[in-house]
Amino acid sequence: MKTKITQSPSIAARFIHRGEVVAFPTETVYGLGANIFNEEAVKKIFIAKERPADNPLIAHIFDLFQIEQVASGIPETAARLIEAFFPGPLTLILPKNERVPSAATAGLKTIGVRMPKAPVAQEFLRACGVPIVAPSANLSGRPSPTTWQAVRADLDGRISCILKGDRTEIGLESTVVDCSGETPVILRAGAVTLEELSEVVPQTKILIEGDLAAPKSPGMKHRHYAPRAKVILAPFPQYTVPMNLSAYIGLKAPPKAAVFERILICKDVEEYARELFNFFRECDESEIETIFCQTVDEEGLGLALMDRIRRAAHS
Ligand code: TXA
Ligand code: MG
Repeated sequence: MKTKITQSPSIAARFIHRGEVVAFPTETVYGLGANIFNEEAVKKIFIAKERPADNPLIAHIFDLFQIEQVASGIPETAARLIEAFFPGPLTLILPKNERVPSAATAGLKTIGVRMPKAPVAQEFLRACGVPIVAPSANLSGRPSPTTWQAVRADLDGRISCILKGDRTEIGLESTVVDCSGETPVILRAGAVTLEELSEVVPQTKILIEGDLAAPKSPGMKHRHYAPRAKVILAPFPQYTVPMNLSAYIGLKAPPKAAVFERILICKDVEEYARELFNFFRECDESEIETIFCQTVDEEGLGLALMDRIRRAAHS
């Protein structure tokens, strides 16, 4: 299959109308979208990115009226979070509407809903006219794509169209909050932080992995965010540099910087988050064997950043 690369949201939307899948930019990472109500199209997403069928997708909308097309009822806490954070990097897990094919939610009775705030994503979703289910537009197990070139590297020839936009602003996937129970539970940390969510709904909790009573995000059990290189957590400044080809990313220059083949020093946690997945990909391209990631405080966006670094280190 030839992959069309376009900057036009309306041209990209035509592929959706024809039942094809399209990669598109959002403020978090690039997504791989299909018409939520076209089951055949939804299945193409799983094939293109080799995603396990038991990992549910997020429905993307451009306007609040679309929520009722995909969800059945909005719990009161969800309504408060929508009011505070939509559009933005926040996905809410809500009870699913029966019209949504079960392939989209991997058979779950709930569905993730998100309204991206990047103007190009909104324009694309508006041109599509239907809610668009989309996981991140990477091959399963690879780091999420933050550039259209990263999408092309993983999916060229496997999808019909890439809507080409700028590099994504946040660089980590959205915060996922389960609102289907009594109190909201953060299943995946992201740019909408625990602190911000707690200001709106003080009872908001964070999922403790291994807590059997807690709701689950099926995607979290799969291999994730991983470059081919080995990732090592590097609390500044103590760590041992191995003899092989290594790279370093962090907020402060490492001691003995000269031993690293590639170094990226970021000015703050926001920039670190924006750069991380792209750095992983660049390291793989230059055949780096080990990537040292400086650890940061687990507060604000630092919580999401450390979550992704840990997952990369452990897979
Ligand atoms: O920022 C993002 O969220 C990006 C952009 C494209 O919007 N999307 C994204 O999708 O990261 P994906 O599929 O790579 O990650 C979605 C995560 C997975 O861990 C999945 O298991 C979880 O959300 N998820 C989706 N629907 C769920 C549901 N109904 N219940 C629990 N977890 C769900
Ligand atoms: Mg993903």
